[in-house]
Amino acid sequence: MAARHVLTIDGPAASGKSSTAQWVARTLGWRHVDSGSLYRAATFARMQAPGAPETWTEGSVLSGAAGIGLAPVEGSFIPTLGGQPLGEEIRAPDVTAEVSRVARMSGVRQWVNRVVQQAAQGHDVVVDGRDMGTVVFPDASLKVWLVADPWERARRRLQQRLGRRPSDEEIAAETDELVQRDSRDATQTVQARDAVLIDTTYLTQPEQVERIAALARAVSAKR
Ligand code: DC
Repeated sequence: MAARHVLTIDGPAASGKSSTAQWVARTLGWRHVDSGSLYRAATFARMQAPGAPETWTEGSVLSGAAGIGLAPVEGSFIPTLGGQPLGEEIRAPDVTAEVSRVARMSGVRQWVNRVVQQAAQGHDVVVDGRDMGTVVFPDASLKVWLVADPWERARRRLQQRLGRRPSDEEIAAETDELVQRDSRDATQTVQARDAVLIDTTYLTQPEQVERIAALARAVSAKR
């Protein structure tokens, strides 16, 4: 059975996609699927086997990924490895540093896309990533392209990580790293022509969530 409603949220790194998608899904009573968590889980799984990242082959990443699943938890899914839930370890800096390399492997992309589509079957879902609206769900009922100024994305990320107001120097260094990551992921990060662009630079999270949820309700009401 196909998904009933699919809302895709794509955009660059640290634009707040996952937290927004999760919140929107909760507001609508839909399920959230985070495609980036699968690229992260595949990177983490490959790291458990020997070999420097420069030597990783697509085959070796896929064999690590064979142990990965998506377990349903209330309103969402979490990746598992060998049946064990994966948590914050997939967000660690060493995983973040290598995940773009893994995300460029076409076989890995096909694997992620398959897992995400399976998770979405039979549910109303909010899926977030880089190419959900273009490659994975080209017929989604609503597509959102979420962007924010790099300085603001860096500031939010640091505030969350440090739990205090970051200095301008810290934000500048983080902005530099974020812009480099955007460039590493640029090929995979594609705005759908029929996506609604939402720039969150001057929006609070509740505002962006409400805006997207209102769009989703309007689209659902028409179908
Ligand atoms: O959104 P994130 O930081 O958790 O994404 C992790 C990595 O996966 C990042 O390098 C971009 C990549 N990614 C991708 O290429 N395609 C997706 N649909 C989702 C994430």
